[in-house]
Amino acid sequence: MAKKNVLEFRAMKQRQERIAVLTAYDASCAAALVRAGIDVILVGDSLGNVVQGHDTTLPVTLDEMVYHTQCVRRGAPEAFVIADLPFMSDSSPAITLEHAGRLMKQGGAQMVKLEGGAHQVRNVELLTSHSIPVCGHLGLLPQSVHKLGGYRVQGRDDAGAASILADAQALERAGADMLVLECVPSALAAQMQQAVAIPIIGIGAGPACDGQVLVLYDMLGLTSGKRPKFSRDFLANAHGIQEALENYVKAVKAGTFPALEHSFN
Ligand code: KIV
Repeated sequence: MAKKNVLEFRAMKQRQERIAVLTAYDASCAAALVRAGIDVILVGDSLGNVVQGHDTTLPVTLDEMVYHTQCVRRGAPEAFVIADLPFMSDSSPAITLEHAGRLMKQGGAQMVKLEGGAHQVRNVELLTSHSIPVCGHLGLLPQSVHKLGGYRVQGRDDAGAASILADAQALERAGADMLVLECVPSALAAQMQQAVAIPIIGIGAGPACDGQVLVLYDMLGLTSGKRPKFSRDFLANAHGIQEALENYVKAVKAGTFPALEHSFN
């Protein structure tokens, strides 16, 4: 599989070809995702929850993100890899730059992801000016869980929806190449998908997004506790993990996942 790139992702949006994304944190899973035909691997700081057993993503350190990005890179040299900037990576422009640089240079990522809208515009400009591709993350921001008062659907009222839409446009103007949009009403996601030229990768954002992402452990039914509404257990009807991953890629490409039952109003 040839490694994809930012230009190709924009072209996929224009061709209305959906982008299939999953998280991975280690070499073996990353290799399995590539065999399944995944477009992008996200080394998410969700590893704080599913690998480390924390309640939130806040304790994840930069060294841990670099380590897991290296593991994924070794297992999937041909994959396009996005790595999350961990909590407090925006504490100063110098720290943002240093963290992103380490994820790219030492981790081997092709893009970094940061959470937040207007307050991240200058960081996106800064990273872009250093040729570091950026994926924004809007809607439910797990690193802001304490400020948001829990893991809640965002953008349900007019003011909230308008602000998320304006954030998407501001991040695009600042140079972001991709957006993750988490837990917002499907109608808002559909409006945003039209409003920006960069691909929007949804998680709990309905079927109109340009691509979908899930946490690997959620879609394999491994995560303890209640399965998030926006996820589906792809292992339940598959003969093993490899087939589950392939079925996920097929379902995203065909637009059969997410269905109404995985989406919010
Ligand atoms: O950390 C992560 O895995 C993420 C996804 C939930 C999009 O940001």
